[in-house]
Amino acid sequence: MGLRRFLIVFIILAAFVIVIVQCTKVEKKDSRGPAYAGSSTCVKCHRNIEDSYLHNAHFNASRILSQPNSIDSLSVPDGEFLFNENTKVGVERRDSGLYQIALVNGRDMKAEHTDVVFGAGKSAYTFAFWYGNKLMQMPLNYLTKERQWVNSPGFPTDQIYFGRPIIARCLECHSSYVDKKLVQTDNFNMEEEFVKGSLIAGIDCERCHGPAAKHVAFHEANPKEKKAVYMVNYRSLALSRRVDMCGVCHSGTALQTLTSTFSFKPGDTLKTLPQYNAYTGEDADVHGKQKQLLEASACYKIGKAECITCHDAHSGVKLSMEIYAQKCISCHQEVKHEQLSAKDKALLTKNCIDCHMPVKESQAIGFQKSNSKEKIPYKLRTHRIAVYNELISKKLN
Ligand code: HEC
Ligand code: HEC
Ligand code: HEC
Ligand code: HEC
Ligand code: HEC
Ligand code: HEC
Ligand code: HEC
Repeated sequence: MGLRRFLIVFIILAAFVIVIVQCTKVEKKDSRGPAYAGSSTCVKCHRNIEDSYLHNAHFNASRILSQPNSIDSLSVPDGEFLFNENTKVGVERRDSGLYQIALVNGRDMKAEHTDVVFGAGKSAYTFAFWYGNKLMQMPLNYLTKERQWVNSPGFPTDQIYFGRPIIARCLECHSSYVDKKLVQTDNFNMEEEFVKGSLIAGIDCERCHGPAAKHVAFHEANPKEKKAVYMVNYRSLALSRRVDMCGVCHSGTALQTLTSTFSFKPGDTLKTLPQYNAYTGEDADVHGKQKQLLEASACYKIGKAECITCHDAHSGVKLSMEIYAQKCISCHQEVKHEQLSAKDKALLTKNCIDCHMPVKESQAIGFQKSNSKEKIPYKLRTHRIAVYNELISKKLN
């Protein structure tokens, strides 16, 4: 072949390669549809928020462990959990990632690779693996403060269990989106399956702020415009709708909807979601029910204290007791506390929440310890801000 022909063929081939590379480089579309821009686009104009956001509990509420070293950030050790002397679950780091292994009489019966982790690790991690198009919960959870591998809440206490699917409801609160399908298994039963590639792990910007593709397109085309366009201003919403925007995930797991809460946007109200049950009692479980508990408090009912009075939605910085106390004092300058002893009064400027938002055990979940029937409780602060007389150490003695 002459040099000229060789060159022509070469150029045509090279052009082909370039076209193919360009086509596959096209950004993966957001699985929620064209109204969504995807959180990687927000950083261009909102870098300050994105920077603090990456470390916070919302962003890390679930993660896909796609690389073998994705588990490094979790810093969980190898370990094992004993049901009895013949039956245990081992946890082992291998070259391809983290495994949970069923061991019966010393024999390796089953080993599953961890594909997704739930929880930012404030207190616990739950792990899951893909089984076809289902996401299954692994037998063991890891408690980050106690540094222990424990049996997953609600799992059988005397045998290894790999059979519980993670339902879409977990993902509605712990992720930004997953596409779900109902598949008929026999004449009577329907089972939930996911479209694997559609999972958007973590709670991203648009999960809270709603679809933002129009907002992005407008501001890209009009860089001089400094006022937000095509974007709901949170502060302009009514109080109950502001609290609902958080409450869509902080109202407890019993909240059931026919479709899903993924499409909930700022300005929507929980009351119009199908099958939404409002809480009416006084003693809701502390796990994930901050909205109902706060709504049962005079600080909300009379004082209109709301989630963002005390929490910054973006930063992950843990506030000190003193800073929370200042937030309380901003509304309560004149409290006399006549019934308190001098010792208790000494606490007053530094700490309001140990007395008025005490830590409580969840009745809904707890974690079984290895080789024991004992449970480690899941503890949270109640958001029912009130007077808890039983907590006064030496009341009027
Ligand atoms: C091309 C630039 C640009 C991009 C990209 C962009 N924004 Fe904005 N955004 C703005 C400007 C300008 C404002 C108005 C000034 C401000 O509040 O920072 C704004 C304001 C906002 C506000 C406050 C609205 C208000 O009135 O309180 C929110 C919320 C918001 N953007 C969310 C997002 C989200 C979510 C994304 C990613 C999906 C995003 N933005 C991407 C330019 C952009
Ligand atoms: C899409 C669901 C969702 C929405 C909406 C949501 N949250 Fe959360 N939030 C969660 C989940 C899940 C966690 C637990 C994260 C973890 O530790 O894994 C959480 C954790 C938190 C925490 C504890 C953070 C920490 O560092 O321990 C606070 C505070 C909080 N949310 C406040 C809010 C406020 C305020 C709003 C409304 C502006 C809100 N959340 C909206 C799901 C949500
Ligand atoms: C957990 C829900 C939640 C998530 C997730 C979230 N935001 Fe916000 N964002 C809020 C709330 C609530 C406000 C109103 C805060 C206020 O007015 O004090 C807000 C305010 C804003 C504002 C305007 C006020 C400001 O601080 O500049 C911008 C811009 C914004 N968010 C962008 C983003 C971007 C970008 C992301 C993703 C990196 C994001 N938000 C993720 C809840 C959230
Ligand atoms: C109604 C929303 C909601 C649902 C549904 C939900 N969670 Fe949560 N989850 C939360 C919130 C909020 C927190 C943090 C504070 C709390 O427990 O109240 C949390 C905490 C956690 C934690 C501890 C996180 C940490 O950082 O310590 C794990 C693990 C977890 N959830 C896993 C799951 C799994 C698995 C499911 C499904 C079986 C599930 N959650 C269902 C809202 C929810
Ligand atoms: C936005 C203002 C506001 C904030 C912030 C606030 N409160 Fe209140 N709180 C009120 C109002 C208003 C009442 C009802 C009138 C009263 O008892 O003073 C109230 C009532 C109370 C009561 C009496 C409850 C009862 O059932 O009798 C206690 C206790 C209390 N608050 C403690 C706190 C603590 C502790 C904090 C901080 C964690 C706090 N408040 C934050 C406004 C607020
Ligand atoms: C009056 C102040 C105040 C208000 C209002 C408030 N919180 Fe909190 N919240 C706190 C304090 C204090 C803690 C404990 C923080 C700690 O221990 O570091 C907390 C902790 C949390 C946690 C972590 C769970 C735990 O027990 O550690 C979540 C989730 C949360 N708040 C969500 C919300 C949501 C959602 C709203 C609105 C419905 C809300 N909060 C309103 C003060 C408040
Ligand atoms: C050692 C426990 C304790 C601490 C700490 C504490 N309180 Fe109280 N608080 C009580 C008790 C008990 C009562 C009811 C009896 C009384 O008034 O002495 C009460 C009553 C209240 C009331 C309702 C009574 C009224 O006058 O309206 C408010 C509001 C209140 N506290 C706010 C606060 C704030 C704000 C802080 C932090 C600066 C705080 N408390 C710290 C135990 C405590």
